[in-house]
This record gives sequence, structure tokens and C-alpha cells, in this order.
Amino acid sequence: MANRIQTLLGVDYPVVQAPMTYIARAELAAAVSDAGGLGMIETLTPEGRTDLLRVRDLTDKPVAANLMIQGWKSDPSIVDTLAAAGVRHVFTSAGHPGLFTARLHDAGMTVAHVVGSLKGALKAVDAGVDALVVEGVEGGGFKSLLGASTVVLLPLIADHVDLPIIAAGGMCDARSAAAALVLGAEGVQMGTRMLASLESAVHANFKNAIVEADDSGTVLLAVPGNPTMRVLRTGMATRDAADAGLLGEVTRLYFDGDMEASVANTGQVSSRIAELLPVADIVQRTWKEIETALAAARSRTGM
Ligand SMILES: Cc1cc2nc3c(=O)[nH]c(=O)nc-3n(C[C@H](O)[C@H](O)[C@H](O)COP(=O)(O)O)c2cc1C
Repeated sequence: MANRIQTLLGVDYPVVQAPMTYIARAELAAAVSDAGGLGMIETLTPEGRTDLLRVRDLTDKPVAANLMIQGWKSDPSIVDTLAAAGVRHVFTSAGHPGLFTARLHDAGMTVAHVVGSLKGALKAVDAGVDALVVEGVEGGGFKSLLGASTVVLLPLIADHVDLPIIAAGGMCDARSAAAALVLGAEGVQMGTRMLASLESAVHANFKNAIVEADDSGTVLLAVPGNPTMRVLRTGMATRDAADAGLLGEVTRLYFDGDMEASVANTGQVSSRIAELLPVADIVQRTWKEIETALAAARSRTGM
């Protein structure tokens, strides 16, 4: 029997590729969706918006779009762009969920909103979203200032909200997904794990740095004017976060492999990633091996 996230998104495996500006593009999204999960395309860059259509030549499976509210709040035309591309599922983030939810619903799209606090979750419920992505501070990239971890946030929000939940921050395999299900989620979203896949377009230097990172490998930076940000502990991350160049040339890091061109968004789960894998393995093994992970947990209860 399908769970609520599988039904809502129309996917075999409720394993979602995270929105990542510049990186969440057509090839990666199509690979994730073809594997039975849900690929996602970013819409902050013109290339991302072009990919909303280009991805239709690569897969006939559902592919979601990310709408970063801060970036689009004064330009609702993004909803027309999404509708024209036939997008069915939109993941909204970084901003007030009330700004776009009704418009997206009117255009026939489902809306999942990313939250990092109970307050944010309740606001998203009021806005009428269809699902929540609950993201803990373990995750890579910009994070809620609250700094709550996935293991605390998931059951807290699940106890107060009757919407289906996708867990994000620290997800990389069946064991983390099984834990998320126990804590109240019905799906998982992965950023760092998807970066370290064969199909992700980022440079080998970045992928290898993720594989090599240990549990001291990331750091939470305070970025003036922004929420906090989890990045790899590179030389850049030890510089003053107020340094104007900190976020400046992220594409040189992502695609040319210059690891000191910018800070490198990466989650703590990098310490658990030991090899690059095909996206299909990540998506399918995560969901198919959950029963094995739960059985192993049951055997540890001693009952
Ligand atoms: C390289 C990278 C870039 C990211 N860029 C964005 C972004 O542009 N917008 C966004 O909402 N989240 C962004 N994130 C956060 C992810 O969407 C996701 O929530 C996070 O990676 C989940 O945690 P995980 O890294 O433990 O899987 C980024 C994460 C990474 C690792």
C-alpha cells in the first residue's frame, strides 16, 4: 500500500533529490525520477528554468521544481513559467509559504514547503501546503537559525501536524530512512548523498572531498544577512564569514573543482558517505532495504 507521500508525488520510492542551486539540473533530476524517486530542478538560474522543459525530453516520470520564495517574492511570473513547463509538484523554501501556495494550487500543482522549526511548520499548515519537508541542522547549505536537529524536529512536528512529512538533513541510506519513518516521516530528501553520485554534475574534487570528510568535516557558518550555512571545513570556511568573497564564486568550486573559490555547501552526513554511487542505487536501496534496517533495530530491543 502506498503511503501519503508516494500517493501525493506519484512515485514508487519517496526519495527526493534536494534542491541545490546550479546543481539541481535536468540530468540529475531525470536520473533520480527514472530510478523511481523524485528529481528536482532549481529555478533561481536561467539555466535551471530552461531545464524545466529540457527534462521532459529526458524522462516521462514526475519531476519537481524548487521555488525559493525569497528569490521570487516580488515576481509571481515564476508560477506561469512552472505551469507552462507542466510542473506538477513544487517544493517551496526560504520564505513565507503563504505567498505562493494558493497561486500554485490554482495552477493545479501540489506544494511541499521546507521548514526547520515547529513554528515554521504551523505557518505552512495555515498556508494550506500539501506536505512538509522537515529539515534539521545536520543538512548542507542554508539552515534555520534555530539549529534543531532532524531527530528532534521530526517527532515534534509530526505530533502537531497532520500533513505527510519528508525528512531532510542527514539522510543517505535505508538506516537513516528507517529512523526517519520511526520519527514520523513518510519520505526522505537527500542533498549531500545526491551530490556524491555518479550522475551529479559537480567536479570530482568536490565529490572526493565529500567521500573523504570525517565527522569533523563540516562547520556551521554564520553568514551576515542570512541564516546559518553548513559547509565543508575548507580553508575558506575558516576565514571571516563576513568576507565578501565567501559565497562569490560557488560555480568555480562546483564545476571547476577549485575548492577555495567559495565555501562548499555540504551536510554532516558526508562522514557516512564512503563511495560515489549511481543514483538508482541510492534511491532504490534506500527504500527497499528499510525492512532490513527495521528488523535489525527490532532485534536490538532485546524483547
Ligand atoms: C551543495 C548544496 C547546495 C544546496 N543549495 C540549496 C539551494 O540552493 N536551495 C535550498 O533550498 N537548499 C539548498 N541546499 C540544501 C538542500 O536542499 C537540502 O535541504 C540539504 O542538502 C539536506 O541535507 P543533507 O545535505 O544532509 O542531505 C543545498 C545543499 C547542498 C549540499
